[in-house]
Amino acid sequence: MLDFRWWPVIDIGGVGRSNDAMSDTSSEAARVASMFDQLAPVYDTTGVEFFGPIADGLVQVLDPRPGQRVIDLGCGRGAVLVRVAPLVGSAVGVDVSPAMVAQCRAASAGSPNVRVELGDAQRPDPGLGMFDAVTASLVLFFLPDPVAALRHWRGRLVADGRCVISTFGVAGRAWREVDEVFAPFLPAHMLDARTEGPLSPSSPDAAVDALFTAAGFTDVHTVSRPLETRFTSVEQWEAFSWTTGQRAMWLSVPESQRPTVRATITDILRASPHPDGGYMLVQDVRYTSATNPER
Ligand SMILES: C[S@@+](CC[C@H](N)C(=O)[O-])C[C@H]1O[C@@H](n2cnc3c(N)ncnc32)[C@H](O)[C@@H]1O
Repeated sequence: MLDFRWWPVIDIGGVGRSNDAMSDTSSEAARVASMFDQLAPVYDTTGVEFFGPIADGLVQVLDPRPGQRVIDLGCGRGAVLVRVAPLVGSAVGVDVSPAMVAQCRAASAGSPNVRVELGDAQRPDPGLGMFDAVTASLVLFFLPDPVAALRHWRGRLVADGRCVISTFGVAGRAWREVDEVFAPFLPAHMLDARTEGPLSPSSPDAAVDALFTAAGFTDVHTVSRPLETRFTSVEQWEAFSWTTGQRAMWLSVPESQRPTVRATITDILRASPHPDGGYMLVQDVRYTSATNPER
Protein backbone atom coordinates (compact mmCIF):
# COMPACT_ATOMS: atom_id res chain seq x y z
CA MET A 1 0.00 0.00 0.00
CA LEU A 2 1.26 3.44 -0.83
CA ASP A 3 0.90 6.23 1.66
CA PHE A 4 2.55 9.52 0.90
CA ARG A 5 0.79 11.74 3.39
CA TRP A 6 3.81 12.09 5.58
CA TRP A 7 6.42 11.25 3.05
CA PRO A 8 9.62 11.90 4.97
CA VAL A 9 11.53 12.91 1.85
CA ILE A 10 9.84 15.96 0.50
CA ASP A 11 10.96 17.52 -2.72
CA ILE A 12 10.06 21.15 -2.33
CA GLY A 13 12.02 23.77 -4.19
CA GLY A 14 13.79 21.09 -6.19
CA VAL A 15 15.48 19.58 -3.17
CA GLY A 16 15.87 15.86 -3.55
CA ARG A 17 17.66 13.25 -1.56
CA SER A 18 19.98 10.45 -2.50
CA ASN A 19 20.65 7.33 -0.47
CA ASP A 20 24.17 8.64 0.25
CA ALA A 21 22.63 11.51 2.13
CA MET A 22 20.77 9.14 4.44
CA SER A 23 23.77 8.94 6.70
CA ASP A 24 23.87 12.70 7.03
CA THR A 25 21.28 13.24 9.71
CA SER A 26 21.84 16.99 9.95
CA SER A 27 21.27 17.57 6.25
CA GLU A 28 18.15 15.41 6.47
CA ALA A 29 16.92 17.53 9.37
CA ALA A 30 17.65 20.67 7.34
CA ARG A 31 15.59 19.32 4.44
CA VAL A 32 12.65 18.49 6.71
CA ALA A 33 12.99 21.88 8.41
CA SER A 34 12.82 23.59 5.04
CA MET A 35 9.61 21.77 4.15
CA PHE A 36 7.95 22.57 7.47
CA ASP A 37 9.12 26.19 7.33
CA GLN A 38 7.06 26.47 4.16
CA LEU A 39 4.08 24.65 5.64
CA ALA A 40 4.12 26.31 9.08
CA PRO A 41 2.00 29.41 8.29
CA VAL A 42 -0.86 27.28 6.90
CA TYR A 43 -0.36 23.97 8.71
CA ASP A 44 -3.51 22.87 10.57
CA THR A 45 -5.41 26.03 9.58
CA THR A 46 -7.98 24.65 7.12
CA GLY A 47 -10.60 23.75 9.74
CA VAL A 48 -10.13 20.02 9.14
CA GLU A 49 -10.11 18.06 12.41
CA PHE A 50 -6.97 16.01 11.95
CA PHE A 51 -3.89 16.88 14.02
CA GLY A 52 -6.01 17.87 17.03
CA PRO A 53 -7.85 14.56 17.34
CA ILE A 54 -4.58 12.67 16.82
CA ALA A 55 -3.01 14.72 19.64
CA ASP A 56 -6.08 14.11 21.84
CA GLY A 57 -5.57 10.37 21.38
CA LEU A 58 -1.89 10.64 22.29
CA VAL A 59 -2.60 12.63 25.45
CA GLN A 60 -5.23 10.07 26.42
CA VAL A 61 -2.72 7.22 26.05
CA LEU A 62 -0.11 9.20 27.99
CA ASP A 63 -2.55 9.94 30.83
CA PRO A 64 -0.34 12.74 32.19
CA ARG A 65 -0.23 13.67 35.89
CA PRO A 66 0.02 17.03 37.64
CA GLY A 67 3.59 18.09 38.26
CA GLN A 68 5.12 15.97 35.51
CA ARG A 69 7.75 17.33 33.12
CA VAL A 70 6.94 16.57 29.49
CA ILE A 71 8.98 17.13 26.35
CA ASP A 72 7.17 17.09 23.00
CA LEU A 73 9.57 16.42 20.13
CA GLY A 74 8.63 17.67 16.67
CA CYS A 75 6.00 19.84 18.36
CA GLY A 76 4.92 21.59 15.16
CA ARG A 77 2.35 24.28 15.93
CA GLY A 78 1.74 22.67 19.31
CA ALA A 79 -1.11 20.19 18.84
CA VAL A 80 0.18 18.03 21.72
CA LEU A 81 1.90 20.77 23.69
CA VAL A 82 -1.15 22.98 24.17
CA ARG A 83 -3.22 19.98 25.24
CA VAL A 84 -0.70 18.50 27.65
CA ALA A 85 0.60 21.72 29.26
CA PRO A 86 -2.50 22.46 31.40
CA LEU A 87 -2.36 18.92 32.80
CA VAL A 88 1.28 18.80 33.91
CA GLY A 89 3.94 20.80 35.73
CA SER A 90 5.95 21.90 32.72
CA ALA A 91 6.09 21.21 29.00
CA VAL A 92 8.92 21.78 26.54
CA GLY A 93 8.37 21.72 22.79
CA VAL A 94 11.22 21.12 20.36
CA ASP A 95 11.08 21.46 16.59
CA VAL A 96 13.67 21.63 13.84
CA SER A 97 11.68 24.19 11.84
CA PRO A 98 12.18 27.80 12.97
CA ALA A 99 8.79 28.75 11.50
CA MET A 100 7.06 25.97 13.42
CA VAL A 101 8.84 27.07 16.60
CA ALA A 102 7.56 30.62 16.03
CA GLN A 103 3.99 29.39 15.45
CA CYS A 104 4.16 27.15 18.51
CA ARG A 105 5.49 29.96 20.69
CA ALA A 106 2.57 32.10 19.55
CA ALA A 107 0.08 29.30 20.23
CA SER A 108 1.42 28.71 23.74
CA ALA A 109 2.16 32.34 24.61
CA GLY A 110 -0.37 32.40 27.45
CA SER A 111 1.00 29.26 29.13
CA PRO A 112 3.63 30.10 31.75
CA ASN A 113 4.78 26.47 32.05
CA VAL A 114 5.60 26.05 28.34
CA ARG A 115 8.93 26.55 26.58
CA VAL A 116 9.50 26.01 22.87
CA GLU A 117 13.02 25.47 21.55
CA LEU A 118 14.61 25.01 18.15
CA GLY A 119 16.36 21.65 17.99
CA ASP A 120 16.81 18.28 16.34
CA ALA A 121 14.60 15.50 17.70
CA GLN A 122 17.06 12.93 16.41
CA ARG A 123 19.24 13.83 19.39
CA PRO A 124 17.52 16.15 21.88
CA ASP A 125 19.85 18.51 23.69
CA PRO A 126 20.71 17.02 27.13
CA GLY A 127 20.74 20.61 28.41
CA LEU A 128 16.94 20.55 28.22
CA GLY A 129 16.97 18.38 31.32
CA MET A 130 15.23 15.18 32.37
CA PHE A 131 11.57 14.41 31.84
CA ASP A 132 8.78 12.18 33.08
CA ALA A 133 7.44 11.80 29.56
CA VAL A 134 8.58 12.18 25.97
CA THR A 135 5.90 12.62 23.33
CA ALA A 136 6.19 12.83 19.55
CA SER A 137 3.11 12.95 17.35
CA LEU A 138 3.67 12.08 13.68
CA VAL A 139 7.41 12.65 13.93
CA LEU A 140 9.43 9.43 14.31
CA PHE A 141 9.08 8.51 10.62
CA PHE A 142 10.92 11.69 9.65
CA LEU A 143 14.05 10.70 11.53
CA PRO A 144 16.88 8.96 9.69
CA ASP A 145 17.61 6.47 12.48
CA PRO A 146 14.50 5.87 14.61
CA VAL A 147 16.15 3.40 17.00
CA ALA A 148 19.06 5.76 17.68
CA ALA A 149 16.57 8.59 18.23
CA LEU A 150 14.53 6.46 20.63
CA ARG A 151 17.72 5.66 22.59
CA HIS A 152 18.39 9.38 22.93
CA TRP A 153 14.79 9.95 23.97
CA ARG A 154 15.10 7.24 26.61
CA GLY A 155 18.22 9.03 27.84
CA ARG A 156 16.09 12.10 28.59
CA LEU A 157 13.63 10.08 30.70
CA VAL A 158 13.73 9.46 34.42
CA ALA A 159 13.36 5.85 35.59
CA ASP A 160 9.83 4.65 34.79
CA GLY A 161 9.39 7.68 32.53
CA ARG A 162 7.19 7.08 29.49
CA CYS A 163 7.45 7.69 25.81
CA VAL A 164 4.28 7.94 23.72
CA ILE A 165 4.25 8.50 19.99
CA SER A 166 1.73 8.46 17.18
CA THR A 167 2.28 7.15 13.67
CA PHE A 168 -0.07 6.20 10.87
CA GLY A 169 -1.68 2.80 10.56
CA VAL A 170 -3.67 1.31 7.73
CA ALA A 171 -5.62 3.76 5.58
CA GLY A 172 -9.18 3.13 4.46
CA ARG A 173 -10.09 2.44 0.86
CA ALA A 174 -10.84 6.01 -0.19
CA TRP A 175 -7.63 7.43 1.26
CA ARG A 176 -5.62 4.68 -0.42
CA GLU A 177 -7.33 5.50 -3.70
CA VAL A 178 -6.40 9.17 -3.33
CA ASP A 179 -2.78 8.20 -2.74
CA GLU A 180 -2.84 5.96 -5.76
CA VAL A 181 -3.97 8.82 -8.00
CA PHE A 182 -0.76 10.68 -7.11
CA ALA A 183 1.53 7.65 -7.19
CA PRO A 184 2.39 7.66 -10.92
CA PHE A 185 3.62 11.25 -10.70
CA LEU A 186 6.04 10.77 -7.83
CA PRO A 187 9.73 10.85 -8.66
CA ALA A 188 11.81 7.75 -7.96
CA HIS A 189 13.86 9.44 -5.24
CA MET A 190 10.68 9.83 -3.20
CA LEU A 191 10.49 6.06 -2.93
CA ASP A 192 12.13 6.10 0.43
CA ALA A 193 12.81 2.86 2.28
CA ARG A 194 11.38 4.18 5.52
CA THR A 195 7.86 4.26 4.13
CA GLU A 196 8.26 0.57 3.39
CA GLY A 197 9.86 -0.08 6.76
CA PRO A 198 8.70 -0.62 10.33
CA LEU A 199 7.07 2.81 10.59
CA SER A 200 5.12 2.50 7.36
CA PRO A 201 1.33 2.27 7.71
CA SER A 202 1.26 -1.30 6.45
CA SER A 203 3.86 -2.74 8.80
CA PRO A 204 2.60 -4.75 11.79
CA ASP A 205 2.37 -3.21 15.26
CA ALA A 206 5.06 -5.66 16.38
CA ALA A 207 7.53 -3.97 14.01
CA VAL A 208 6.93 -0.59 15.67
CA ASP A 209 7.21 -2.18 19.12
CA ALA A 210 10.51 -3.80 18.10
CA LEU A 211 12.07 -0.36 17.50
CA PHE A 212 11.31 0.61 21.10
CA THR A 213 12.57 -2.69 22.46
CA ALA A 214 15.80 -2.30 20.46
CA ALA A 215 16.21 1.13 22.06
CA GLY A 216 15.98 -0.37 25.54
CA PHE A 217 12.36 0.43 26.39
CA THR A 218 10.13 -2.05 28.20
CA ASP A 219 6.37 -2.38 28.61
CA VAL A 220 5.88 -1.51 24.94
CA HIS A 221 2.31 -1.38 23.65
CA THR A 222 0.75 -0.21 20.41
CA VAL A 223 -2.94 0.47 19.96
CA SER A 224 -4.64 1.54 16.74
CA ARG A 225 -7.63 3.83 16.60
CA PRO A 226 -9.52 4.71 13.44
CA LEU A 227 -9.60 8.42 12.65
CA GLU A 228 -12.52 9.55 10.53
CA THR A 229 -11.59 12.84 8.91
CA ARG A 230 -14.44 14.94 7.54
CA PHE A 231 -14.00 17.33 4.66
CA THR A 232 -16.94 19.68 4.11
CA SER A 233 -16.12 20.03 0.41
CA VAL A 234 -13.64 18.92 -2.22
CA GLU A 235 -12.15 22.41 -1.96
CA GLN A 236 -11.54 21.91 1.75
CA TRP A 237 -9.85 18.58 1.07
CA GLU A 238 -7.63 20.25 -1.53
CA ALA A 239 -6.74 23.14 0.77
CA PHE A 240 -5.88 20.64 3.50
CA SER A 241 -3.74 18.59 1.14
CA TRP A 242 -1.67 21.64 0.19
CA THR A 243 -0.97 22.36 3.87
CA THR A 244 0.39 18.92 4.76
CA GLY A 245 3.09 16.62 3.43
CA GLN A 246 0.67 15.91 0.58
CA ARG A 247 1.79 19.24 -0.84
CA ALA A 248 4.81 17.42 -2.23
CA MET A 249 2.50 15.11 -4.12
CA TRP A 250 0.71 18.06 -5.73
CA LEU A 251 4.03 19.59 -6.68
CA SER A 252 4.96 16.37 -8.44
CA VAL A 253 1.92 16.65 -10.71
CA PRO A 254 2.50 18.89 -13.76
CA GLU A 255 0.16 21.87 -13.57
CA SER A 256 -1.50 20.85 -16.83
CA GLN A 257 -2.52 17.53 -15.25
CA ARG A 258 -3.74 18.86 -11.91
CA PRO A 259 -7.35 19.39 -13.14
CA THR A 260 -7.52 15.69 -14.12
CA VAL A 261 -6.09 14.63 -10.74
CA ARG A 262 -8.60 16.92 -8.99
CA ALA A 263 -11.49 15.47 -11.00
CA THR A 264 -10.47 11.87 -10.22
CA ILE A 265 -10.14 12.67 -6.52
CA THR A 266 -13.51 14.45 -6.57
CA ASP A 267 -15.09 11.19 -7.77
CA ILE A 268 -13.30 9.27 -4.99
CA LEU A 269 -14.53 11.71 -2.34
CA ARG A 270 -18.10 11.66 -3.67
CA ALA A 271 -18.08 7.88 -3.28
CA SER A 272 -17.12 8.32 0.39
CA PRO A 273 -19.77 10.57 1.97
CA HIS A 274 -19.74 11.60 5.62
CA PRO A 275 -23.06 11.01 7.46
CA ASP A 276 -23.13 14.71 8.48
CA GLY A 277 -22.48 15.94 4.95
CA GLY A 278 -19.30 16.36 2.98
CA TYR A 279 -16.80 13.56 2.63
CA MET A 280 -14.94 11.21 4.90
CA LEU A 281 -11.49 9.66 4.74
CA VAL A 282 -10.52 7.09 7.34
CA GLN A 283 -7.12 6.03 8.58
CA ASP A 284 -5.90 4.20 11.64
CA VAL A 285 -3.62 6.14 13.96
CA ARG A 286 -1.19 4.04 15.94
CA TYR A 287 -0.21 5.04 19.44
CA THR A 288 2.86 3.34 20.86
CA SER A 289 3.76 3.74 24.51
CA ALA A 290 6.81 2.43 26.34
CA THR A 291 8.64 2.77 29.64
CA ASN A 292 12.24 3.58 30.45
CA PRO A 293 13.14 0.78 32.88
CA GLU A 294 16.38 2.29 34.15
CA ARG A 295 16.67 3.21 37.78
C1 LIG B 1 3.70 16.03 10.93
S1 LIG B 1 4.34 17.33 11.82
C2 LIG B 1 3.64 17.02 13.43
C3 LIG B 1 3.65 18.23 14.30
C4 LIG B 1 2.95 18.04 15.63
N1 LIG B 1 3.61 17.02 16.43
C5 LIG B 1 1.49 17.72 15.43
O1 LIG B 1 1.07 16.65 15.85
O2 LIG B 1 0.79 18.56 14.82
C6 LIG B 1 6.01 16.85 12.06
C7 LIG B 1 6.82 17.88 12.82
O3 LIG B 1 8.06 17.26 13.15
C8 LIG B 1 9.08 18.22 12.96
N2 LIG B 1 10.32 17.49 12.73
C9 LIG B 1 10.62 16.64 11.72
N3 LIG B 1 11.89 16.21 11.85
C10 LIG B 1 12.38 16.77 12.98
C11 LIG B 1 13.63 16.71 13.65
N4 LIG B 1 14.66 15.99 13.18
N5 LIG B 1 13.77 17.42 14.79
C12 LIG B 1 12.75 18.17 15.29
N6 LIG B 1 11.56 18.29 14.67
C13 LIG B 1 11.38 17.59 13.55
C14 LIG B 1 8.61 19.02 11.77
O4 LIG B 1 9.27 20.27 11.66
C15 LIG B 1 7.13 19.13 12.05
O5 LIG B 1 6.82 20.26 12.81
